[in-house]
Amino acid sequence: MPNSNSSHQFDVIIVGSGGAGLTLALSLPKHFKIAILAKSHLTDASTYYAQGGVAAVLDKTDSLEQHIDDTMIAGSHLCEFNAVRQTVEGGQASVDFLLKQGVQFTLDDQEQLHLTREGGHSHRRIIHAADATGKAISTTLVERAESQNNIHIFKHFIAIDLITSEKLHLEGPKRAIGLYALDEKTEKVHTFLAPFTALACGGAMKAYLYTSNPDIATGDGIAMAYRAGCRVANMEFNQFHPTCLYHPLARSFLITEAMRGEGAYLRLPDGERFMLRFDERAELAPRDIVARAIDYEIKRLGIRHVWLDITHKSEDFIQEHFPTLYQRLLELGIDITKEMIPVVPAAHYTCGGVMVDQHSQTDIQGLYAIGETSYTGLHGANRMASNSLLECFVYGMAAAKHIQSQFDADYHIPSVPAWDDTQVNHPDEDVVILQNWDELRQTMWNYVGIVRTTKRLERALHRIEMLKNEINEYYQDYKVSKNLIELRNLVMVSEMIVQCALQRKESRGLHFTLDYPEQVSELKRTVLMPHNFSVQKEPINA
Ligand code: FAD
Ligand code: SIN
Repeated sequence: MPNSNSSHQFDVIIVGSGGAGLTLALSLPKHFKIAILAKSHLTDASTYYAQGGVAAVLDKTDSLEQHIDDTMIAGSHLCEFNAVRQTVEGGQASVDFLLKQGVQFTLDDQEQLHLTREGGHSHRRIIHAADATGKAISTTLVERAESQNNIHIFKHFIAIDLITSEKLHLEGPKRAIGLYALDEKTEKVHTFLAPFTALACGGAMKAYLYTSNPDIATGDGIAMAYRAGCRVANMEFNQFHPTCLYHPLARSFLITEAMRGEGAYLRLPDGERFMLRFDERAELAPRDIVARAIDYEIKRLGIRHVWLDITHKSEDFIQEHFPTLYQRLLELGIDITKEMIPVVPAAHYTCGGVMVDQHSQTDIQGLYAIGETSYTGLHGANRMASNSLLECFVYGMAAAKHIQSQFDADYHIPSVPAWDDTQVNHPDEDVVILQNWDELRQTMWNYVGIVRTTKRLERALHRIEMLKNEINEYYQDYKVSKNLIELRNLVMVSEMIVQCALQRKESRGLHFTLDYPEQVSELKRTVLMPHNFSVQKEPINA
């Protein structure tokens, strides 16, 4: 007998309680019955950890065209123009949405939203809540969602796989019917059914040993969508944030780019401001350039980190703009008003993802992907700072509109078999998972990092294939657990990253390979066709 007949029916199932998932939930009509699933507690999401802010054109001297241009330049012109325009044009509506929810942003002397600056932006256009913007957004949106009776929250529920009409051998166009999810506390698998399902699961940068991401970022949404038959694009473009703290007690702690935006310098041990040698925009060049320059200097000099220096600013200025960082670093023994901060690049953002249209709909009817899980085409070969939260809000609202327009009160939910784990055993030793997890992340860091070669990528692929086989065998034989679900997804997404990277025979944006250091003239996205990792190169803006 299957282990559970716990079946739940909703109008909309949302996997993820970050900026993307919560925006969708809060933008849907209140008579919709909505489920939100989260792997952990609701604020355990990248959204919560965002420091810098949200990009939007608000200043009179700025313009939508300039935000579009900056995004295209940062993305090495591999951005889909329509997605860039849709996102940038959605800036004001996103700010209005956040203010309406009650998010408190930092104001300037005139009581207007204070705008800070980050790399790649030609203007000040980042709204923020001091240096803890994500916390302000996440806690406010969570509070809102928790106060609505139509939103049902399932914490510590881990979505395992999607249920589609194809899997049930139903006739007609392929559509999403729901998903199976593991209740971590009871270890039971539940069935969630709805005419609409949205994957807002965040990114996949836990694939790397060193990352700014929280533990939830294991690429579950991308892997689930791909297994269900969706195309996934541009997975070779993984962003490394230039400045994560180098400290034994705080491994994934980010030092916001806004610090460089407000004038901090990057220095070598001898004090040299080395970015001036790499790019005329110096510390405010796009992230790919700054991270690569740091990586180059670290390797050239055989040092463990470089320094970020804001000591030339007044103590008041630093404490006013960066209160969280000031306090946290003081606790770690670094007084940033007097001392420089040791920093290194770390994996930060997944630019590729599940291909979606302007409504956030995937290749499967009724299935949406939003936020870092998705590929809208906005980021191209490199995401510009603070554009990703904006994308979460713009596409979360677009999905809500589309779902509303597609809603059919007569939709009939087909009957779905319960999860069957009668043929599997309890795992005998979990050390297999731990071992494979470590090996995967080390492999990705060493062979698929900031600077790549074909040989390193092939080595990585070989290792990943072996790990994948071992993990899949384990998955078939043993009961599912959170770690196993995540590892199965992470190994799949890692393979996607390497397959896409091997197909891009040029260096562009975040994908830099010593074997193809130049850019080719045609602008193409790398598309993974469902099921077999075959890669197609497609012209962008087609
Ligand atoms: P997340 O906020 O990561 O939420 C993912 C959700 O999905 C979580 O609730 C998780 O539990 C859930 N989930 C995942 N898998 C499953 C599953 N299998 N079952 C159930 N639930 C699941 N961007 C900016 O624009 N500005 C910034 O200043 C900025 N700063 C950043 C700082 C840091 C340290 C980091 C890590 C990122 C930053 N980014 C910033 C990027 C930005 O925060 C993220 O891209 C964005 O928050 C992603 O939002 P999301 O809703 O897509 O995913
Ligand atoms: C940061 O604050 O540096 C992160 C901004 C971002 O990732 O967009």
